[in-house]
Amino acid sequence: MCGIVGINSIEQIKVTDAVKRLKRLEYRGYDSFGYFDGKKLFKKIGQIIIPNIPDKSSIVIAHSRWATHGGVTQNNAHPHQSCDKKITIVHNGIIQNYQELKKDLATKGHSFIGETDSEVAAHYFEEKIKRKNIKEVCVDFIRDIKGEFALLVMIEGDENIYALRRDSPLVLGVAEGQNILASDIYAFSDITTKAIFFENDEFAIISSDKYAFYDKHGKKTDKKIQEFRWEQEESATENYEHFMIKEIMEEPKVARRLLMSLGAEQKENFRKFVNLIRDSRKITFVGAGTSYHASLLGVYYLHKCGIEAQTLIASEFEHFVGVDENTLVIALSQSGETMDVIEALKYAKGKDAKIASIVNVPYSTIQRMSEISLNICAGQEVCVAATKSFVNQVTLMLAIAKDFGFRITLDTIPDRIFEVLKQEEKIKDIAHSIYKHRDIYVLGRGLSYPVAREMALKIKEISYIHAEGMMGGELKHGTIALIEKGTPVIALISNSDYSMLSNAKEVEARGANVIKITNEMEGNIKINTSNDGKFGILATIVGQILTYFMALEKKLPIDKPRNLAKSVTVK
Ligand code: M6R
Repeated sequence: MCGIVGINSIEQIKVTDAVKRLKRLEYRGYDSFGYFDGKKLFKKIGQIIIPNIPDKSSIVIAHSRWATHGGVTQNNAHPHQSCDKKITIVHNGIIQNYQELKKDLATKGHSFIGETDSEVAAHYFEEKIKRKNIKEVCVDFIRDIKGEFALLVMIEGDENIYALRRDSPLVLGVAEGQNILASDIYAFSDITTKAIFFENDEFAIISSDKYAFYDKHGKKTDKKIQEFRWEQEESATENYEHFMIKEIMEEPKVARRLLMSLGAEQKENFRKFVNLIRDSRKITFVGAGTSYHASLLGVYYLHKCGIEAQTLIASEFEHFVGVDENTLVIALSQSGETMDVIEALKYAKGKDAKIASIVNVPYSTIQRMSEISLNICAGQEVCVAATKSFVNQVTLMLAIAKDFGFRITLDTIPDRIFEVLKQEEKIKDIAHSIYKHRDIYVLGRGLSYPVAREMALKIKEISYIHAEGMMGGELKHGTIALIEKGTPVIALISNSDYSMLSNAKEVEARGANVIKITNEMEGNIKINTSNDGKFGILATIVGQILTYFMALEKKLPIDKPRNLAKSVTVK
């Protein structure tokens, strides 16, 4: 995780402008932040605050941290410096062999102020630069480091920024009068549409008006500028108190946008995507968190129209899924940068499988690893909780399933979503009645099983309430022992699923406070659809709103829940 920014500019820029760019990446981590402007080193624990300072500089590197190695302390915050303070670095990734390197550097007299793996990079450069030129040091670094890095290095008296990359995202934005290095294009998408993406084991020397890229042997590489489009900027909370509720309220709009794009600019790609599924002997999805839940729904919908597929959580993919040249692996990811998914894809590529993806962030690593990719067009999602991106992932899955015969009218999805949003007050009352509970259970069967899991995930990460999303039928095999008088149990009952109704009755008989979300049967929240596909999306939205209001009652930091980050770029 972590967000990094490096600006090298012809004219001096306000240091606060660099911090503002970093703020655009804050969703990548918000344990601490810091910057170095060639003179001043600043670090602070907590979320990014734009400092009230007049300082200007033509070169700045900055970092927003999601802690991995070493606690959330001032010393562990980036940037890190060498003993002589002449080398300053910011790093995203994990240097796996840092202890070995640290020990070696310590024997050479280096001392460390924190516990991070990243700090060794500053001392590594300090040590090597005594004997070698900077290009040789970069080559050595790429050779000697085990692990992942997007690393920016500044050297006292040198006007360049040195940028090195393996596995952690890094991109150069070529803007007028300045070059901007960043973890993703969003850091500079407001001022340029020109980007150069780093490949693995590549490094670059970035000055204010020039750049040069090199491979791991120090040989110059030819890089092409890519023009990117990222017009869906939705970065202000507008009239809403939080991004989460704003993004939920955007769901009808973004669903409509996706459906239009599938019939227009993505039409050809969509066709190719569907044909690839049709022609593949084995189809397997992969994703993490919410994206995994969306893929589970995809498997369900495809299964209903006779297309057999499977899915697995990305971090366990290679341990459980066999792939070969006849396999199509479809990755689902909002960010397109989730390391677990990237690792699963690398494994699949190694076995000659075909790679396709469904992402939200264009030009992301996962999209660039894929033979074919569809965009869910949800626009930027700022809140850590995936909400509108889930809706569009599932809408896209339904569009694919429809092509294989799944019966659904896609065009009415936005209106149906809007009707659910109108039930906000009712859902708020339910939230008020259960938010003080320690545990909540969510039960589903068939299509509502992935929904149950997704709802539970939202409740955990945003409302800090322990929640379990379960198969209704599995409850009686153990978990039912936890049901006590008053325990909230949310039962997702689509159509006339009497088995699911029985599961609800079983917990009710044991004193549970059952909240039914239904379409056909009587329920606490009724959803206006008779279609299984739409029920999956709409019931999830009820869970999103419920989560939001429970977190609001508890006065929690809704958009930036503790210990989390929007983009999970570590294993
Ligand atoms: O960017 P991705 O879709 O690959 O992210 C996967 C998960 O990290 C993500 O869905 C996470 O579970 C969300 N915080 C859920 O709201």
